[in-house]
Amino acid sequence: MGVKIHDLTTPALIASSKAISENLLTMSKARPGDALRPHVKAHKCTSMAKLQKDHGHLNFTCATVREALGMAQAGLGNDLLIANEILDVASLNRLAELTTDISAQITLAVDSIETIDALCKSPIKQVLIDVNVGLPRCGCEPSQAGELAQLARSRGLLVRGVMGYEGHCVGLEDRSQRLDQVTTSMELLIEAHRDVGGEIISAGGTGTYDINRWANEIQAGSYVFMDSAYAKLGLPFHNSLAVLSTIISASQQGWMVCDTGLKSLGMDHGNPLITGAQVWFCSDEHTTFALASEGERQASYTIAPEIELPVHSSSTIGEKITVIPAHIDPTIAYHDVIHIISGDDVIDQWPIDLKGWAI
Ligand SMILES: Cc1ncc(COP(=O)(O)O)c(C=O)c1O
Repeated sequence: MGVKIHDLTTPALIASSKAISENLLTMSKARPGDALRPHVKAHKCTSMAKLQKDHGHLNFTCATVREALGMAQAGLGNDLLIANEILDVASLNRLAELTTDISAQITLAVDSIETIDALCKSPIKQVLIDVNVGLPRCGCEPSQAGELAQLARSRGLLVRGVMGYEGHCVGLEDRSQRLDQVTTSMELLIEAHRDVGGEIISAGGTGTYDINRWANEIQAGSYVFMDSAYAKLGLPFHNSLAVLSTIISASQQGWMVCDTGLKSLGMDHGNPLITGAQVWFCSDEHTTFALASEGERQASYTIAPEIELPVHSSSTIGEKITVIPAHIDPTIAYHDVIHIISGDDVIDQWPIDLKGWAI
């Protein structure tokens, strides 16, 4: 007999096969083929990346050298963008060496003389100029982009275009506010692209996949699994992943405790969601919660029914429930495997094979 959800040791990541398929289809209809460059940092699974490829997306975004190597080794190296600044020349050289016999095309983001210098010491020769479009993170000033492109070209690099991630806009709950801020950000990117040239204008995430009409490719990643932060935006994607947990204690004073905590949940976007419960707080190995009152139930979330094991008034110690993470990317990076489910059955296990850094 096959493994059932209730046989799994908790905490464990479970994901609904049906909801994943629907999410993949919805996105591939909205952003077919090269109009989407799925970001693999959200799931860190080559099994998921293969499904994205089956849906027509051949080019991928990575955040780390490790992700790019794993993708190339899995035969997914058609066109890999490391949308991040890499100064570690030894890793770049090793990436180039380990992919020599594999057909893999690798492009890196650069935003400074130093990142261009690092790349010039490696065999990797393709770049995008990373432009700061408002998120206080990487990216050069828009007015600097043309000069950096010129420098890169003079050093023998191929400048394929620009990228500019509007991460300060993707999570804004109000759609018109999101649109306004994306417009401002993308005007900066388009201005930079005028000075840089090249065919690629790469930007965007799950929250702006249908709003950002300036970029010719969108780097969305969260859409396949979603999380409780993104669920607030009312996007047409289901929450397809949860952390399966066990209620391990119940206080006579009214709260309960499950075995999922900070070591199995990304917490930077706030507390996770448990259907039917009001989450109080998370500690290393625990989440403490109480039964929610009627009015507190979040009706707008689209949690796939297969992964929604709610808390109810008759919940007892030993019962399995599910916890929906507030931020999918760091949650997945804490685990080793995602159990894919259909009904009560565990039908597959996807290794989280792109995690880690060293190659
Ligand atoms: C460079 C970059 N591009 C795109 C994304 C979009 O990802 P998501 O689908 O989670 O919005 C991210 C997320 O942090 C990112 O860092």
